[in-house]
Amino acid sequence: MKIVIIGAGPGGYVAGIRAGQLGAKVIVIEDTEVGGTCLNRGCIPTKAIIASTEMLEKIKDVQEYGLEIKGEVSASLDRIIERKEKVVGTLVKGIKGLFKGLGIELIEGRGKVLGSGKVWAILKDGAQKEIDADKIIIATGSRPLNIPAFPFDGERILSSDDILGLKEIPKGLIIIGAGVIGCEFATIFRSLGTEITMVEMLPHAVSTEDEEISEALERELKKRKIKLILNTKVEKVIRKDGDVVATLTDGSEIRAEKILVSIGRAFNTDNIGLEESGINKGKRGEILVNERMETNIPGIYAIGDVIGGMMLAHVASTEGLIAVENALGGNRGMDYRVVPSGIFTSPEIGSVGLREKDAIQKGYDIKIGRFPFRALGKAHASGEISGIVKIVTDAKDDKVLGVHIIGPHATDLVHEAALAMKMGGTAKDIARTIHAHPTFSEAIMEASEDVHGIAIHIPKKS
Ligand code: FAD
Ligand code: NAI
Repeated sequence: MKIVIIGAGPGGYVAGIRAGQLGAKVIVIEDTEVGGTCLNRGCIPTKAIIASTEMLEKIKDVQEYGLEIKGEVSASLDRIIERKEKVVGTLVKGIKGLFKGLGIELIEGRGKVLGSGKVWAILKDGAQKEIDADKIIIATGSRPLNIPAFPFDGERILSSDDILGLKEIPKGLIIIGAGVIGCEFATIFRSLGTEITMVEMLPHAVSTEDEEISEALERELKKRKIKLILNTKVEKVIRKDGDVVATLTDGSEIRAEKILVSIGRAFNTDNIGLEESGINKGKRGEILVNERMETNIPGIYAIGDVIGGMMLAHVASTEGLIAVENALGGNRGMDYRVVPSGIFTSPEIGSVGLREKDAIQKGYDIKIGRFPFRALGKAHASGEISGIVKIVTDAKDDKVLGVHIIGPHATDLVHEAALAMKMGGTAKDIARTIHAHPTFSEAIMEASEDVHGIAIHIPKKS
């Protein structure tokens, strides 16, 4: 069986490796660099930079921990970016090594589908090649959404790709969109000393999260002196006297050295042969697939950001595994009910399952448990007391419907909740699972106890 995969992001490269492990002959076509957005312009670069800025934040508090630094600690964005590039380089090399070990052929160039069983590749040197395939997987991903009201110029009006290459710390930054990307970059640049104003057209920052979590993050942003303007749209942006000026819906203007535009992503569907092959697209331009990741054309699958679902690396990878299993004769469907997500703000956010309002909307009679990190020994010992764990359960049978965490290590903690939900677990199951002391995980146990009003470390509710 020969499988051709177009795009080597976390969707395509993971699919390629699994197909290789299962004995298929695999060709992966990649236009830029293996690892895609996630490894080169997304998850890993941002988290490498966050490792530097988190260390900087810790250092600011050294005296509180009984330590002293003689001399000054200052940030060099140039060196932070250099470290980030080293991290990315190591991981890219790792993926290429895994490909080699499995005999996966990597074609550097642009791929285009020519209908069932045929792919066209335009190589980096301009040469062209037609490739036969038994099965094709489209994994071309997404790119920053560029709109005429504020087109990227790479210098002052920046995309998330552009900002990752900045060598000097901007004095002032306006961020359009307080979604996931906007909030992560606000966290990073505020630590580096940049004055930040975020403008969000919806009533809350990270509005895809549970409202209590969004509100908690908004308070943290305020504490860090990040200005957040909600319920307000940026209408247009112009360059003026070496600055950028944004006009808001109320007619007011705000000005800064640079602007980050983080208002969502566009699908990479141009020129990949969708029209020629008759592959159906949805209203937003995403490739339409069924739960087996099949497009409407037999033998052609699509996965990851380009299908327009949850735009997360681990979702793309899981969809890749499912597409490969099905391409090789299996029959597995994608289940989106238990997908954990992490937002790497300060503090972090981790969530899985239904938000309170979703659960109510779906007609559940719900019970909620909450536990604040400030009631936890480990949080005090570590000096990280901000945040809460919130558990939404079905009052009928105590099953966990959703868990929402803002606080230290939330992006790791959330997986206990994901496993409990995957296994059909109840709040009582989590509460009765012995949690080691002192750990941040105890907050999940106590929040589960709180569903029944019996958390040990919070006062009796009046
Ligand atoms: P992509 O990663 O976009 O990869 C697609 C690949 O296809 C690219 O390499 C592209 O060059 C290639 N390609 C496109 N067209 C062609 C063609 N015609 N021929 C050949 N190759 C082609 N997600 C998380 O889960 N956690 C995070 O912490 C996180 N952080 C992020 C931070 C930022 C700043 C951004 C922008 C995104 C972040 N994401 C995060 C989202 C994550 O990066 C994406 O969901 C993920 O990369 C999608 O994977 P994919 O394989 O579908 O597409
Ligand atoms: P997003 O959809 O999360 O947020 C965009 C925000 O911009 C929205 O809140 C929207 O209301 C706002 N907006 C749009 N136009 C506006 C305007 N003119 N004025 C003011 N506000 C405006 O998109 P974002 O942040 O670009 O991220 C894209 C995707 O990348 C997300 O879907 C996310 O899944 C993924 N991602 C995931 C990360 C993680 O898992 N940690 C990190 C970064 C990105």
